[in-house]
Amino acid sequence: MEKDFTNPFRPGAGHKPPYLAGRVEEKEEFKNLLKQEVVLNNLILTGLRGVGKTVLLDSFKSIAQESGWMWAGTDCSESASINEDTIALRLLTDIALITSNIVIHTEKIKEIGFTKDIREEKTYLSFSFLRQYYNAVPGLPIDKLKAVSMFVWDSIKSIDGVEGIVFAYDEAQTLSDHADDRQYPLSILLDLFQYLQRNGVKFVLVLTGLPTLLTKLVETRTYSERLFHVLTLRQLNDQESRDAILKPIADARCKTKFNDESVKIIIQQSGGYPYFIQFICREVYDVFEQKAAKKQKLSVPIDAIIQKLDNDFFAGRWSRATEREQQVLIMLAEANKTTFTIQDTLELSNKSRFKKFSRSQIGQLFNSLIERGLVYKDKRGSYSFAVPLLNQYIVRTQNTQPY
Ligand SMILES: Nc1ncnc2c1ncn2[C@@H]1O[C@H](COP(=O)(O)OP(=O)(O)O)[C@@H](O)[C@H]1O
Ligand SMILES: [Mg+2]
Repeated sequence: MEKDFTNPFRPGAGHKPPYLAGRVEEKEEFKNLLKQEVVLNNLILTGLRGVGKTVLLDSFKSIAQESGWMWAGTDCSESASINEDTIALRLLTDIALITSNIVIHTEKIKEIGFTKDIREEKTYLSFSFLRQYYNAVPGLPIDKLKAVSMFVWDSIKSIDGVEGIVFAYDEAQTLSDHADDRQYPLSILLDLFQYLQRNGVKFVLVLTGLPTLLTKLVETRTYSERLFHVLTLRQLNDQESRDAILKPIADARCKTKFNDESVKIIIQQSGGYPYFIQFICREVYDVFEQKAAKKQKLSVPIDAIIQKLDNDFFAGRWSRATEREQQVLIMLAEANKTTFTIQDTLELSNKSRFKKFSRSQIGQLFNSLIERGLVYKDKRGSYSFAVPLLNQYIVRTQNTQPY
Protein backbone atom coordinates (compact mmCIF):
# COMPACT_ATOMS: atom_id res chain seq x y z
CA MET A 1 0.00 0.00 0.00
CA GLU A 2 1.18 3.49 -0.75
CA LYS A 3 2.37 5.49 2.20
CA ASP A 4 0.18 8.39 3.21
CA PHE A 5 1.49 11.79 2.31
CA THR A 6 2.19 13.74 5.49
CA ASN A 7 3.07 17.34 6.19
CA PRO A 8 6.43 17.76 4.39
CA PHE A 9 7.55 21.08 5.88
CA ARG A 10 10.49 21.05 8.29
CA PRO A 11 11.03 24.15 10.40
CA GLY A 12 14.03 23.57 12.65
CA ALA A 13 17.73 24.28 12.73
CA GLY A 14 19.54 22.08 10.25
CA HIS A 15 16.43 20.14 9.21
CA LYS A 16 16.65 19.18 5.58
CA PRO A 17 13.92 21.04 3.69
CA PRO A 18 11.55 19.06 1.46
CA TYR A 19 12.84 21.19 -1.42
CA LEU A 20 15.99 23.31 -1.28
CA ALA A 21 14.95 26.42 -3.19
CA GLY A 22 17.33 28.81 -4.94
CA ARG A 23 21.03 28.78 -3.98
CA VAL A 24 22.02 28.09 -7.58
CA GLU A 25 24.90 30.59 -7.64
CA GLU A 26 26.17 29.40 -4.28
CA LYS A 27 26.36 25.81 -5.50
CA GLU A 28 28.15 27.02 -8.62
CA GLU A 29 30.69 28.87 -6.46
CA PHE A 30 31.27 25.75 -4.46
CA LYS A 31 31.82 23.69 -7.61
CA ASN A 32 34.40 26.25 -8.75
CA LEU A 33 36.18 25.89 -5.46
CA LEU A 34 36.58 22.18 -6.17
CA LYS A 35 38.11 22.85 -9.58
CA GLN A 36 41.23 24.45 -8.09
CA GLU A 37 44.42 22.60 -9.02
CA VAL A 38 46.24 24.47 -6.30
CA VAL A 39 44.03 25.53 -3.42
CA LEU A 40 44.10 29.30 -3.02
CA ASN A 41 40.50 29.91 -2.06
CA ASN A 42 38.43 28.66 0.83
CA LEU A 43 34.83 29.48 1.54
CA ILE A 44 32.82 31.23 4.20
CA LEU A 45 29.05 30.91 4.16
CA THR A 46 27.44 33.56 6.32
CA GLY A 47 23.97 34.90 6.91
CA LEU A 48 21.44 35.43 9.63
CA ARG A 49 20.05 32.63 11.73
CA GLY A 50 17.54 30.51 9.84
CA VAL A 51 18.58 31.66 6.38
CA GLY A 52 19.74 28.18 5.41
CA LYS A 53 23.50 27.91 5.97
CA THR A 54 23.50 24.47 7.56
CA VAL A 55 21.26 22.81 5.00
CA LEU A 56 23.18 24.36 2.11
CA LEU A 57 26.43 23.10 3.62
CA ASP A 58 24.83 19.64 3.80
CA SER A 59 23.95 19.82 0.14
CA PHE A 60 27.59 20.65 -0.67
CA LYS A 61 28.60 17.30 0.73
CA SER A 62 27.11 15.28 -2.11
CA ILE A 63 28.43 17.76 -4.69
CA ALA A 64 31.91 17.27 -3.23
CA GLN A 65 31.67 13.50 -3.14
CA GLU A 66 30.37 13.34 -6.72
CA SER A 67 33.55 15.03 -7.90
CA GLY A 68 35.94 12.91 -5.89
CA TRP A 69 36.40 15.04 -2.82
CA MET A 70 36.22 13.46 0.58
CA TRP A 71 34.19 15.27 3.19
CA ALA A 72 35.20 15.83 6.80
CA GLY A 73 33.80 18.12 9.39
CA THR A 74 31.39 18.85 12.17
CA ASP A 75 29.17 21.29 13.94
CA CYS A 76 31.19 23.62 16.17
CA SER A 77 28.28 25.02 18.14
CA GLU A 78 29.66 23.62 21.40
CA SER A 79 33.22 24.77 20.74
CA ALA A 80 33.46 27.76 23.07
CA SER A 81 35.85 25.94 25.35
CA ILE A 82 37.95 24.32 22.68
CA ASN A 83 41.72 24.53 23.24
CA GLU A 84 44.76 23.58 21.17
CA ASP A 85 44.70 19.93 22.15
CA THR A 86 41.00 19.54 21.50
CA ILE A 87 41.14 21.21 18.08
CA ALA A 88 43.98 18.85 17.17
CA LEU A 89 41.95 15.90 18.40
CA ARG A 90 38.94 17.18 16.47
CA LEU A 91 40.92 17.36 13.22
CA LEU A 92 42.45 13.92 13.71
CA THR A 93 39.01 12.47 14.41
CA ASP A 94 37.51 14.13 11.35
CA ILE A 95 40.30 12.83 9.14
CA ALA A 96 40.21 9.33 10.60
CA LEU A 97 36.48 9.04 9.96
CA ILE A 98 37.11 9.13 6.23
CA THR A 99 40.52 7.48 6.03
CA SER A 100 40.29 4.64 8.50
CA ASN A 101 39.77 1.99 5.82
CA ILE A 102 42.72 3.17 3.74
CA VAL A 103 45.66 0.79 3.93
CA ILE A 104 49.03 2.51 3.99
CA HIS A 105 51.24 -0.46 4.52
CA THR A 106 51.03 -4.23 4.18
CA GLU A 107 53.52 -6.49 5.85
CA LYS A 108 53.87 -10.10 4.85
CA ILE A 109 54.57 -12.22 7.87
CA LYS A 110 55.64 -15.83 7.66
CA GLU A 111 53.98 -17.92 10.31
CA ILE A 112 56.58 -19.80 12.28
CA GLY A 113 56.40 -23.51 11.68
CA PHE A 114 53.98 -23.37 8.78
CA THR A 115 56.40 -22.35 6.06
CA LYS A 116 53.77 -22.03 3.36
CA ASP A 117 51.42 -19.75 5.31
CA ILE A 118 51.95 -16.07 4.84
CA ARG A 119 49.88 -13.74 6.91
CA GLU A 120 49.34 -10.14 5.84
CA GLU A 121 49.31 -7.45 8.44
CA LYS A 122 47.77 -4.22 7.27
CA THR A 123 48.27 -0.77 8.69
CA TYR A 124 45.28 1.51 8.28
CA LEU A 125 45.07 5.28 8.40
CA SER A 126 42.97 4.94 11.51
CA PHE A 127 42.48 7.23 14.45
CA SER A 128 44.88 5.30 16.66
CA PHE A 129 47.52 5.38 13.94
CA LEU A 130 47.10 9.13 13.42
CA ARG A 131 47.17 9.70 17.14
CA GLN A 132 50.42 7.81 17.53
CA TYR A 133 51.94 9.66 14.62
CA TYR A 134 50.85 12.96 16.12
CA ASN A 135 52.32 12.11 19.50
CA ALA A 136 55.61 11.04 17.98
CA VAL A 137 56.21 14.37 16.20
CA PRO A 138 58.22 16.73 18.38
CA GLY A 139 57.14 20.31 18.94
CA LEU A 140 53.95 22.29 19.38
CA PRO A 141 50.44 21.12 18.40
CA ILE A 142 50.67 23.14 15.16
CA ASP A 143 53.92 21.36 14.16
CA LYS A 144 52.41 18.01 14.95
CA LEU A 145 49.28 18.78 12.97
CA LYS A 146 51.27 19.94 9.96
CA ALA A 147 53.29 16.73 9.98
CA VAL A 148 50.28 14.43 10.35
CA SER A 149 48.34 16.27 7.65
CA MET A 150 51.24 16.12 5.21
CA PHE A 151 51.53 12.42 5.90
CA VAL A 152 47.82 11.87 5.33
CA TRP A 153 47.95 13.80 2.07
CA ASP A 154 50.99 11.85 0.85
CA SER A 155 49.14 8.63 1.60
CA ILE A 156 45.91 9.52 -0.18
CA LYS A 157 46.84 11.85 -3.04
CA SER A 158 47.65 9.12 -5.52
CA ILE A 159 44.55 7.05 -4.81
CA ASP A 160 42.41 6.85 -7.93
CA GLY A 161 39.45 9.19 -7.80
CA VAL A 162 40.60 11.13 -4.76
CA GLU A 163 40.83 14.86 -5.47
CA GLY A 164 41.23 16.17 -1.96
CA ILE A 165 39.41 16.71 1.31
CA VAL A 166 36.83 19.35 2.15
CA PHE A 167 36.81 20.31 5.83
CA ALA A 168 33.40 21.77 6.65
CA TYR A 169 32.78 23.46 9.98
CA ASP A 170 29.32 24.71 10.85
CA GLU A 171 28.77 27.51 13.40
CA ALA A 172 32.45 28.41 13.15
CA GLN A 173 31.89 31.82 14.75
CA THR A 174 32.12 29.97 18.08
CA LEU A 175 35.80 29.12 17.54
CA SER A 176 38.06 31.50 19.44
CA ASP A 177 41.55 32.06 20.65
CA HIS A 178 41.88 32.47 24.41
CA ALA A 179 44.86 34.71 24.99
CA ASP A 180 44.33 34.62 28.77
CA ASP A 181 44.93 30.88 28.83
CA ARG A 182 47.54 31.06 26.06
CA GLN A 183 45.33 28.88 23.90
CA TYR A 184 45.10 29.70 20.20
CA PRO A 185 42.94 27.02 18.54
CA LEU A 186 41.51 29.34 15.87
CA SER A 187 44.97 30.57 14.88
CA ILE A 188 46.10 26.98 14.66
CA LEU A 189 43.28 26.08 12.32
CA LEU A 190 44.02 29.03 10.01
CA ASP A 191 47.80 28.59 10.12
CA LEU A 192 47.46 24.90 9.41
CA PHE A 193 45.37 25.34 6.27
CA GLN A 194 47.48 28.19 5.01
CA TYR A 195 50.62 26.09 5.45
CA LEU A 196 49.14 22.99 3.82
CA GLN A 197 47.74 24.86 0.84
CA ARG A 198 51.09 26.56 0.26
CA ASN A 199 52.61 23.11 0.15
CA GLY A 200 50.22 21.86 -2.50
CA VAL A 201 47.94 19.89 -0.22
CA LYS A 202 44.38 19.82 -1.51
CA PHE A 203 42.54 20.40 1.76
CA VAL A 204 39.80 23.03 1.41
CA LEU A 205 38.19 24.79 4.34
CA VAL A 206 34.50 25.68 4.31
CA LEU A 207 33.20 27.57 7.32
CA THR A 208 29.69 28.70 8.05
CA GLY A 209 28.61 31.16 10.67
CA LEU A 210 26.87 34.37 11.58
CA PRO A 211 27.87 37.55 9.72
CA THR A 212 30.57 38.37 12.27
CA LEU A 213 32.62 35.37 11.20
CA LEU A 214 34.94 37.01 8.68
CA THR A 215 35.65 39.99 10.94
CA LYS A 216 36.56 37.58 13.68
CA LEU A 217 38.88 35.59 11.45
CA VAL A 218 40.56 38.73 10.15
CA GLU A 219 41.10 39.93 13.70
CA THR A 220 42.77 36.61 14.45
CA ARG A 221 44.84 36.41 11.27
CA THR A 222 44.86 39.32 8.83
CA TYR A 223 45.60 37.01 5.89
CA SER A 224 42.11 35.48 6.36
CA GLU A 225 40.83 38.16 4.01
CA ARG A 226 42.82 36.55 1.18
CA LEU A 227 42.25 32.99 2.33
CA PHE A 228 38.45 33.07 2.11
CA HIS A 229 35.83 33.89 -0.42
CA VAL A 230 32.67 35.02 1.37
CA LEU A 231 29.16 34.07 0.29
CA THR A 232 26.38 35.82 2.16
CA LEU A 233 23.09 33.97 2.09
CA ARG A 234 20.05 36.19 1.86
CA GLN A 235 16.33 35.61 1.91
CA LEU A 236 14.80 33.83 -1.08
CA ASN A 237 13.32 35.96 -3.83
CA ASP A 238 9.64 35.63 -4.77
CA GLN A 239 10.10 32.86 -7.31
CA GLU A 240 12.40 30.88 -5.02
CA SER A 241 10.01 31.33 -2.09
CA ARG A 242 7.19 30.11 -4.31
CA ASP A 243 9.25 27.01 -5.14
CA ALA A 244 10.02 26.41 -1.46
CA ILE A 245 6.28 26.56 -0.73
CA LEU A 246 4.78 24.73 -3.69
CA LYS A 247 7.30 22.09 -4.82
CA PRO A 248 6.99 20.06 -1.63
CA ILE A 249 3.23 19.65 -2.12
CA ALA A 250 3.34 19.15 -5.89
CA ASP A 251 3.17 15.41 -5.25
CA ALA A 252 0.31 13.41 -6.77
CA ARG A 253 -0.36 11.82 -3.37
CA CYS A 254 -0.72 15.19 -1.68
CA LYS A 255 -4.37 16.16 -1.34
CA THR A 256 -3.69 19.51 0.30
CA LYS A 257 -3.31 22.43 -2.08
CA PHE A 258 -2.32 26.04 -1.35
CA ASN A 259 -4.18 28.63 -3.39
CA ASP A 260 -2.52 31.70 -4.86
CA GLU A 261 -3.85 33.94 -2.14
CA SER A 262 -2.27 31.84 0.61
CA VAL A 263 1.06 31.59 -1.22
CA LYS A 264 1.13 35.38 -1.39
CA ILE A 265 0.46 35.70 2.32
CA ILE A 266 3.18 33.18 3.16
CA ILE A 267 5.76 34.96 1.01
CA GLN A 268 4.86 38.30 2.48
CA GLN A 269 4.83 37.23 6.12
CA SER A 270 8.01 35.15 5.88
CA GLY A 271 9.95 37.91 4.15
CA GLY A 272 11.45 35.07 2.10
CA TYR A 273 13.39 33.75 5.10
CA PRO A 274 13.60 29.96 4.75
CA TYR A 275 12.97 29.16 8.40
CA PHE A 276 9.82 31.27 8.44
CA ILE A 277 8.65 29.74 5.17
CA GLN A 278 8.96 26.25 6.65
CA PHE A 279 7.31 27.34 9.88
CA ILE A 280 4.32 29.06 8.32
CA CYS A 281 3.85 26.38 5.65
CA ARG A 282 3.83 23.65 8.25
CA GLU A 283 1.02 25.42 10.12
CA VAL A 284 -0.94 26.26 6.98
CA TYR A 285 -0.67 22.68 5.77
CA ASP A 286 -2.12 21.31 9.02
CA VAL A 287 -4.96 23.84 9.05
CA PHE A 288 -5.82 23.27 5.39
CA GLU A 289 -5.81 19.53 5.83
CA GLN A 290 -8.31 19.78 8.69
CA LYS A 291 -10.47 22.37 6.97
CA ALA A 292 -10.59 20.37 3.77
CA ALA A 293 -11.71 17.32 5.73
CA LYS A 294 -14.61 19.37 7.08
CA LYS A 295 -15.20 20.96 3.68
CA GLN A 296 -14.59 24.43 5.10
CA LYS A 297 -13.27 27.37 3.12
CA LEU A 298 -9.47 27.52 3.03
CA SER A 299 -8.03 30.71 4.43
CA VAL A 300 -4.75 31.28 6.20
CA PRO A 301 -5.21 32.12 9.91
CA ILE A 302 -2.15 34.33 9.71
CA ASP A 303 -2.65 36.10 13.05
CA ALA A 304 -2.68 32.84 14.96
CA ILE A 305 0.34 31.57 13.06
CA ILE A 306 2.31 34.75 13.72
CA GLN A 307 1.35 34.50 17.38
CA LYS A 308 2.74 30.98 17.46
CA LEU A 309 5.91 32.08 15.69
CA ASP A 310 6.34 34.86 18.23
CA ASN A 311 6.08 32.39 21.08
CA ASP A 312 8.19 29.66 19.53
CA PHE A 313 10.90 31.69 17.86
CA PHE A 314 11.11 35.30 18.99
CA ALA A 315 9.99 35.42 22.62
CA GLY A 316 12.87 33.35 23.97
CA ARG A 317 15.47 35.37 22.12
CA TRP A 318 13.88 38.66 23.08
CA SER A 319 13.67 37.80 26.76
CA ARG A 320 17.42 37.22 26.87
CA ALA A 321 17.93 40.98 26.57
CA THR A 322 17.85 43.23 29.64
CA GLU A 323 15.31 46.03 29.92
CA ARG A 324 17.75 48.71 28.77
CA GLU A 325 18.92 46.56 25.86
CA GLN A 326 15.31 46.02 24.88
CA GLN A 327 14.66 49.76 25.00
CA VAL A 328 17.49 50.43 22.55
CA LEU A 329 16.10 47.82 20.17
CA ILE A 330 12.56 49.17 20.54
CA MET A 331 13.75 52.67 19.59
CA LEU A 332 15.52 51.33 16.51
CA ALA A 333 12.68 49.06 15.43
CA GLU A 334 10.08 51.78 15.84
CA ALA A 335 12.21 54.15 13.78
CA ASN A 336 12.33 51.41 11.14
CA LYS A 337 16.11 51.13 11.27
CA THR A 338 17.60 47.75 10.39
CA THR A 339 21.18 49.00 9.99
CA PHE A 340 22.37 51.64 12.40
CA THR A 341 25.34 53.36 14.01
CA ILE A 342 25.94 54.51 17.57
CA GLN A 343 25.37 58.08 16.36
CA ASP A 344 21.93 57.17 14.86
CA THR A 345 20.97 55.56 18.12
CA LEU A 346 22.15 58.54 20.15
CA GLU A 347 19.99 60.84 18.04
CA LEU A 348 16.96 58.58 18.46
CA SER A 349 17.58 58.45 22.18
CA ASN A 350 17.31 62.23 22.44
CA LYS A 351 13.69 62.17 21.27
CA SER A 352 12.71 58.85 22.79
CA ARG A 353 10.23 58.11 25.57
CA PHE A 354 12.89 56.15 27.42
CA LYS A 355 15.48 57.47 29.84
CA LYS A 356 18.34 58.97 27.77
CA PHE A 357 21.31 56.84 26.76
CA SER A 358 24.85 58.18 26.58
CA ARG A 359 27.17 57.35 23.71
CA SER A 360 29.26 55.01 25.83
CA GLN A 361 26.18 53.29 27.25
CA ILE A 362 24.97 52.60 23.72
CA GLY A 363 28.36 51.16 22.81
CA GLN A 364 28.27 48.86 25.83
CA LEU A 365 24.69 47.78 25.17
CA PHE A 366 25.56 46.94 21.56
CA ASN A 367 28.45 44.81 22.78
CA SER A 368 26.22 42.82 25.08
CA LEU A 369 23.56 42.53 22.35
CA ILE A 370 26.24 41.09 20.08
CA GLU A 371 27.11 38.58 22.80
CA ARG A 372 23.45 37.56 22.96
CA GLY A 373 23.31 37.12 19.20
CA LEU A 374 20.67 39.79 18.69
CA VAL A 375 22.87 42.33 16.92
CA TYR A 376 26.00 42.10 14.79
CA LYS A 377 28.60 44.55 13.62
CA ASP A 378 29.79 44.60 10.03
CA LYS A 379 33.21 45.40 8.62
CA ARG A 380 32.40 49.07 8.22
CA GLY A 381 31.35 49.37 11.86
CA SER A 382 27.58 49.59 11.30
CA TYR A 383 25.27 47.45 13.40
CA SER A 384 22.28 45.36 12.30
CA PHE A 385 19.69 43.06 13.80
CA ALA A 386 21.12 39.54 13.82
CA VAL A 387 17.73 37.83 13.94
CA PRO A 388 15.65 38.14 10.78
CA LEU A 389 12.41 40.11 11.14
CA LEU A 390 13.17 40.85 14.79
CA ASN A 391 12.33 44.50 14.12
CA GLN A 392 8.83 43.55 12.96
CA TYR A 393 8.36 41.35 16.00
CA ILE A 394 9.31 44.24 18.27
CA VAL A 395 6.96 46.65 16.56
CA ARG A 396 4.00 44.29 16.72
CA THR A 397 4.52 43.29 20.34
CA GLN A 398 5.40 46.66 21.89
CA ASN A 399 2.73 49.24 22.43
CA THR A 400 3.92 51.86 20.02
CA GLN A 401 3.34 55.15 21.72
CA PRO A 402 4.46 58.32 19.97
CA TYR A 403 7.69 59.79 21.34
N1 LIG B 1 16.87 27.02 0.30
C1 LIG B 1 15.91 26.60 1.14
N2 LIG B 1 14.67 26.25 0.69
C2 LIG B 1 13.73 25.84 1.54
N3 LIG B 1 13.92 25.72 2.88
C3 LIG B 1 15.11 26.05 3.39
C4 LIG B 1 16.17 26.50 2.56
N4 LIG B 1 17.24 26.77 3.32
C5 LIG B 1 16.88 26.48 4.59
N5 LIG B 1 15.61 26.04 4.65
C6 LIG B 1 14.89 25.68 5.91
O1 LIG B 1 15.09 26.77 6.81
C7 LIG B 1 15.36 26.31 8.13
C8 LIG B 1 16.67 26.86 8.63
O2 LIG B 1 17.76 26.33 7.90
P1 LIG B 1 19.22 26.20 8.54
O3 LIG B 1 20.11 25.62 7.51
O4 LIG B 1 19.14 25.51 9.86
O5 LIG B 1 19.59 27.76 8.76
P2 LIG B 1 20.90 28.37 9.43
O6 LIG B 1 21.92 27.28 9.51
O7 LIG B 1 21.30 29.48 8.52
O8 LIG B 1 20.47 28.89 10.77
C9 LIG B 1 15.27 24.80 8.09
O9 LIG B 1 13.99 24.43 8.50
C10 LIG B 1 15.47 24.47 6.61
O10 LIG B 1 14.78 23.30 6.25
MG1 LIG C 1 22.87 26.46 11.17
